[in-house]
Amino acid sequence: MKFFIDTALIDEIKDCWATGLIDGVTTNPTLIKKAGRDPLDVYKSLIDLGIGDISMEVMGTAAEMEYDGMQLYTLFKESTTVKLPMTKEGLQACQRLNNLGIRTNVTLIFNAAQALLAAKAGATYVSPFVGRIDDQGYAGLEVVRSIAGLYKMKGIDTQVLAASIRTPHRVVRSFYNGADVVTMPPKVFWGMYDHILTTDGLRIFDEDATKIVSSS
Ligand code: G3P
Repeated sequence: MKFFIDTALIDEIKDCWATGLIDGVTTNPTLIKKAGRDPLDVYKSLIDLGIGDISMEVMGTAAEMEYDGMQLYTLFKESTTVKLPMTKEGLQACQRLNNLGIRTNVTLIFNAAQALLAAKAGATYVSPFVGRIDDQGYAGLEVVRSIAGLYKMKGIDTQVLAASIRTPHRVVRSFYNGADVVTMPPKVFWGMYDHILTTDGLRIFDEDATKIVSSS
């Protein structure tokens, strides 16, 4: 079970990383744009924090994505996971990078057929977009379950990385439905700590602790 953080905002990642519970970070062009920084600077800052698995998205033709992926690997070594789109070109680049021993994450997965192709191309991770599937009126978690079930049945070692996660409940249900990794925004990660009864219970313990009579 791995927890990834899905943002390019370094300060927010730093706080999550400091918990010791985070295994990696996923980024995409939209998240990098929100951060308002050069992607390479973002990746460098993440590596300086000690993060060893960073999804870095590439775009363009198969040859361009393969080249950019190799360049990223040259710069960032084992911290690099090259994130590729679920397209014909993306899967061609995925095969080549996989042959070079470079980790890949095939993104924008919306059904099991796409996940089978990505696995056949040697993807390290596939990223079904749970929230965006839900937005379309069918169940993102069912897609996670069918991909994870098929991979298990066929002995495929590609890992299911549930993405587009908007609530702690979806984190739990993604793992329950067979995800190996869940990537989530920091707000969702912090939300996993919360329960009203924990807060209330702690308040009562704190109050009672001040009233304990000590014999010493
Ligand atoms: O990892 C993909 C994720 O960033 C997409 O999330 O909420 O934009 O659908 P969302």
